[in-house]
Amino acid sequence: MSRAVLCTLPLPAPAPERLAAAAEVRVLGHIPTEAELAAELAAGVDVLCAQLRDPVTTAVLDAGLPRLRAVSLFSVGYDNVDIAAATARRVVIGHTPGVLTDATADCALGLMIAAARRLCEGDAVTRAGGFHGIEPEFMLGLDLRDALLGVVGFGRIGQALARRALACGMRVAHSEHGGAPPPVDLDGRVTAMPLERLLGEADVVSLHVPLSDATRHLIDEAALRRMKPTAVLVNTARGAVVDERALVRALREGWIAAAGLDVYEDEPRLAPGLVECRNAVLAPHLGSATVRTRSTMAAMCADNAVAALQGRVPPHCVNPSAWAEGAPPPR
Ligand code: DGY
Repeated sequence: MSRAVLCTLPLPAPAPERLAAAAEVRVLGHIPTEAELAAELAAGVDVLCAQLRDPVTTAVLDAGLPRLRAVSLFSVGYDNVDIAAATARRVVIGHTPGVLTDATADCALGLMIAAARRLCEGDAVTRAGGFHGIEPEFMLGLDLRDALLGVVGFGRIGQALARRALACGMRVAHSEHGGAPPPVDLDGRVTAMPLERLLGEADVVSLHVPLSDATRHLIDEAALRRMKPTAVLVNTARGAVVDERALVRALREGWIAAAGLDVYEDEPRLAPGLVECRNAVLAPHLGSATVRTRSTMAAMCADNAVAALQGRVPPHCVNPSAWAEGAPPPR
């Protein structure tokens, strides 16, 4: 029996070539429902190459057994996978950490500047014929120099944004991060503070926490009301970290000045009213969307899949303990 890999969406080069050298590859071509994905895996798949929108639930994992041995994600985030269920079923989960740090930090910086300086709003005004020449008080925004950036979640991407913000002359605070000291180059240049204080003091709040039960709606109505009326919220993490309906009210009613969003609570749908908020810059989940980054992610995704097919723990594995007793025998 030859090995079988299922990709839900086509992957960029070099993934197709690397996967084809190791297995028979089938590409579904769309994001399946939970029932559809379960049916696909039940037909006999050794490794699923999944997108962050694919629902890798307990039911889906069960449908893939006994043959399914790995899910290789084309993303660093894995909040769409039931990791505990996968580990219990000896299914290893690969992902793509590290390689999208700079691309995502660039995106956060872009959203921050665009929202603070009202660039997208200005673009819309200009296209609509509303630009009649420079005027002293036309479309004023927030100075970044000396402004305080509050980074919520001080991991790789949060730290990369901090470096960019320091280069722009901003001050940087971060919400305490498991007590770990900042990396050497940021030591003494960033201040740790509790989230509540950070929300109240920051001119820009940028979110960089993974989505989990602990971070779902971390930025809720109370958190938004704690922010300054002049503040900007940036989210390149996961949409559900923010209560998006509360955010629409915050933007409409002026609890905060603006938002720069790359992710949404119920992607690709947006909360009612968000599109009408001219003080929101809305990007379509572009954080890792550069040619080089996506190609590197594709290589990692394929290498993780091929390792699992060959009985090795994927080089970038979320749950290596699933194979603590060695890889399951090929079926
Ligand atoms: C990820 O990988 O988790 C990003 O959200 C998209 O590339």
